Amino acid sequence: MPLFPEATDAAADAAGLAAKASGLREQLQHHAHLYYVLDAPEIPDVEYDRLFTELRELEGAHPELRTPDSPTQRVGAAAASELASVRHAVPMLSVYTETDTSPAGAMAFDARVRRELGLADDAPPVQYAAELKFDGLAVNLRYERGVLVQAATRGDGETGEEVTANIRTVGQVPLRLRGVEAPVLEVRGEVYMRRDAFEALNERQRQRGDKTFVNPRNTAAGALRQLDPAITAQRPLCFFAYGLGEVQGWDVPATHAALLDALADMGLPVCADRTVVDGPQGLVAFHQGIAARRDALPFDIDGIVYKVNRRDLQQQLGFKTREPRWAVAHKYPAQEQVTRLKTIDIQVGRTGKLTPVAKLEPVFVGGTTVSNATLHNAFELRRKGVRVGDQVIVRRAGDVIPEVVGRMPGVRAHYVPNFAMPKACPVCGSAVERDKGNLEHRCTGGLVCAAQRKQALLHFAGRRAMDVEGLGDKLVDQLVDGHLVRTLPDLYRLGFVHLAALERMGDKSAHKLLANLEASKQTTLGRFLFSLGIRHVGETTAKDLAKHFGHLEALMSADEAALLQVPDVGPVVAHSVHGFFANPLNREAVEQLRAAGIVWPEHEGAAAAVELPQAGKTFVLTGTLPTLTRDAAAALIEAAGGKVAGSVSKKTHYVVAGEAAGSKLDKAVELGITVLDEAALRALLGA
Ligand code: IVH
Repeated sequence: MPLFPEATDAAADAAGLAAKASGLREQLQHHAHLYYVLDAPEIPDVEYDRLFTELRELEGAHPELRTPDSPTQRVGAAAASELASVRHAVPMLSVYTETDTSPAGAMAFDARVRRELGLADDAPPVQYAAELKFDGLAVNLRYERGVLVQAATRGDGETGEEVTANIRTVGQVPLRLRGVEAPVLEVRGEVYMRRDAFEALNERQRQRGDKTFVNPRNTAAGALRQLDPAITAQRPLCFFAYGLGEVQGWDVPATHAALLDALADMGLPVCADRTVVDGPQGLVAFHQGIAARRDALPFDIDGIVYKVNRRDLQQQLGFKTREPRWAVAHKYPAQEQVTRLKTIDIQVGRTGKLTPVAKLEPVFVGGTTVSNATLHNAFELRRKGVRVGDQVIVRRAGDVIPEVVGRMPGVRAHYVPNFAMPKACPVCGSAVERDKGNLEHRCTGGLVCAAQRKQALLHFAGRRAMDVEGLGDKLVDQLVDGHLVRTLPDLYRLGFVHLAALERMGDKSAHKLLANLEASKQTTLGRFLFSLGIRHVGETTAKDLAKHFGHLEALMSADEAALLQVPDVGPVVAHSVHGFFANPLNREAVEQLRAAGIVWPEHEGAAAAVELPQAGKTFVLTGTLPTLTRDAAAALIEAAGGKVAGSVSKKTHYVVAGEAAGSKLDKAVELGITVLDEAALRALLGA
């Protein structure tokens, strides 16, 4: 019998809670590493969120359990008024840059190293570690007893800026190192932004008509130096470790390669593209091998860094003022260059979008000669202040199309007017229009416009439309560019001889495609309407129109007032449908398609829907259901007479939510709409 039972119980409780919190932290750290660093999650996001919420609530109730390495501490720090200065315990050096991008760069480095090590000509080759030179910004991460306590930018190498709160928002940076108890371990590496994240960010900016960012490097640097970590958190940053700063109480491995392995074992992201080679030929091979893959990498690099692998040799070589003698950066051709903007052309895209394209004085950038670059849209062009005759900055990185990111500062010798978008489509002469609130100019020519035909054909052949298997991108390009197909009905006039003569199309594939075209003729009115690619007529609207009118002829002769009678059809859709069928060329295409033998059961759904149990009910699907695919769930709902809509509104009857359901679920809850899981959906539909 304990003397003070209550106190002991309380202590036991406290110990239990502390153990619980640390267990949750460990689990979350483990899964965050799998997710952010290894890109191989083992549990669904919702499960991670559940663990996270549990920990946050536990820490909320017992603030004494909160630790600086807790995953809950990544976000929520207050904005600072300025970034504090940090003096680096060990200066952050730079590396000597070998600008000769040919193999000579690697040979020169090896020759220098051998000379400085006093190696005879017949001495064995020096071993080197080679890794990528990431195009981001260097940071120093200070871990004390394995816990991240401070992060700082490189600054001038002696003094940098403190960015701890911002670095905490970077999911890839561990807040605690695995298996490290050393009093001090400073890890150095590069913070960068992936190209896809950069493009997505810029696309969002463009949609909003906001200023776009110039390149991932500048964007990452800007994001990391934000005063408000909440802003950093919205700019997805990544990190690669490549070196050390101050170390106390940790045995530094004997080679650079072993160091990188050790850092990876601690849970730090280390780039897999690295190698150890003997002598300069291996460096050249790595440099060339990566050059061939440079475009396919998900991030920008500006070269390769070679490092003498053995630490004892590194120490022997030492430093030359601000650069180590044991490392060198071997560059690649720059991904940004300056050239003259000769003129601006207009390109009509597959969706009819007009894009201003810069015609440039040819320039070698990102490994190829570029003479065209996109200017995206008229608004961005104006915002960048680019005019014909200017010296402009062109960026080409990865497989992204080259773009003009800005102009060089300087005064123009002559007045040059701002570029104006044309009023008529340069391809077909149809009127160019711009919807209110939309930043894109588009050609109204529709199927008449050659540039839009390819897209129209692809849409027509799509799985949810006429479902012509095998009619993909490449084939459509050949058919249109080779003048074999001008209009949709032309597809059904293709013969074996035409097809078999095409590139990469054997007899067998030609027969197959003809059979698929034939099979596609048996369809439904809804699919047929959808396949025509009428603006604002998606799958659901097409079905609604089919159901309401029953016959194509009735729809084709409906005026806007009649179209407005269709449930869920508003003025925009009515205007678009009416406009489409008012165009004689479109009418002719429809007639010809029917003449080609496209058929559907008349009055589909129109009669049946009335008796079906879910007639008039609107469902919205969100997230991933345990067994049903999206299409399968939609098919079940429609078979019961219900309708599937894309967004939640007051008119929605049910929201079917699965795993990783997003804002639609929030909206449903907000509007008090019944939420079903798959089991409940099946029960409702008797499926
Ligand atoms: S090592 C003592 N390795 O390049 C050597 N640097 O001018 C210190 N960088 O500021 C640098 N990738 O931002 C090293 N794999 C890599 C790197 C790398 C990019 C950057 C770093 C540094 C600059 C060197």
